[in-house]
Amino acid sequence: MRLIDYGVRDDEKKYIEEWAKINKVEVKIVQELLTPETVELANGFDGIVAYQQLPYDPVVFDKMNEYGIHVISLRNVGVDNVPFEALKKNDIRLTNVPSYSPEAIAEYSVTGLMALLRNMKHMIRKVDQYDFEWAPDIGRELNQLTVGVAGTGRIGRAAIKIYEGFGAKVIAYDKYRNDELDKKGMYVDTLDELLKQADVVTLHLPSLGKGNTVINAKTIAEMKDDAVVVNTGRGDLINTQDLYDAVANGKLYGAVLDVYENEVGIFNTDRTDQELDDKLLEKLIQSPRIILTPHIAFYTTKAVKNMATISLNSMVDELNTGTSGNEIDLDK
Ligand code: COI
Repeated sequence: MRLIDYGVRDDEKKYIEEWAKINKVEVKIVQELLTPETVELANGFDGIVAYQQLPYDPVVFDKMNEYGIHVISLRNVGVDNVPFEALKKNDIRLTNVPSYSPEAIAEYSVTGLMALLRNMKHMIRKVDQYDFEWAPDIGRELNQLTVGVAGTGRIGRAAIKIYEGFGAKVIAYDKYRNDELDKKGMYVDTLDELLKQADVVTLHLPSLGKGNTVINAKTIAEMKDDAVVVNTGRGDLINTQDLYDAVANGKLYGAVLDVYENEVGIFNTDRTDQELDDKLLEKLIQSPRIILTPHIAFYTTKAVKNMATISLNSMVDELNTGTSGNEIDLDK
């Protein structure tokens, strides 16, 4: 079996090499993303493993078919940048890594929230300038707040555990309820209800498709004054301009954004000393009440190792048995 792994970062390499050695499978590691220009590197291989934020071009899948490759295994969870129709047309199966470390993302959400509630961004900036004054950065305590968890999949549930540990009141919403949380009476019936009751709204939902935002001017108007929004899910869940305006005009207390609707091509690149041509992004970065980070909630040693190895295991299962536990239903 010969596999090719695309878009591999330096921090992933050692896990892939280790896996290849243990499993005695040839894995060619390439840094290039999977594009119509680079797909020919895969000619002669049995399966493609990849990760990228950039949309996968349908042409890539026509080429895979031409080369007789019928499985692509992603190292991440999100499949919103994959054109399913092109996969179906070319009889290509797709796997993802549905759970590499829900705790990594849950812990990061809470870390961001705590930093925001204690005004750390502003305080650190002040201290950097030798301004040691307390006011106006008085904090708020999590144990006094109602946290609304939107989405109770693995990540949402890991977050709930942590919030309960802090003594916060937790309410939740999901289209598909979790039995245990339901028994605890944690669910509200609608997302609107959650937005109305919560002091903190934390998003653990997949993308709902372009234009289908959960947080926008209309929903913000329904939210409590001084509420906080935390997003480690997908940038397109939020109308970012509306959110920025609501923080700037004092309706909302602030936001923690680890994802941003226009992040592709910017996040995980070094723009030191360059002009940013995204004015909204500049404003988010400047705001003392918005903590913006470049999609790093997942970025831990445990998660990266799991992404590298689980994707390869799924590929082996697909090639050996024709299926795997992580195959995506392309008709859903
Ligand atoms: C995903 O797994 O889809 C993520 O959003 C994390 C990614 C940046 C590797």
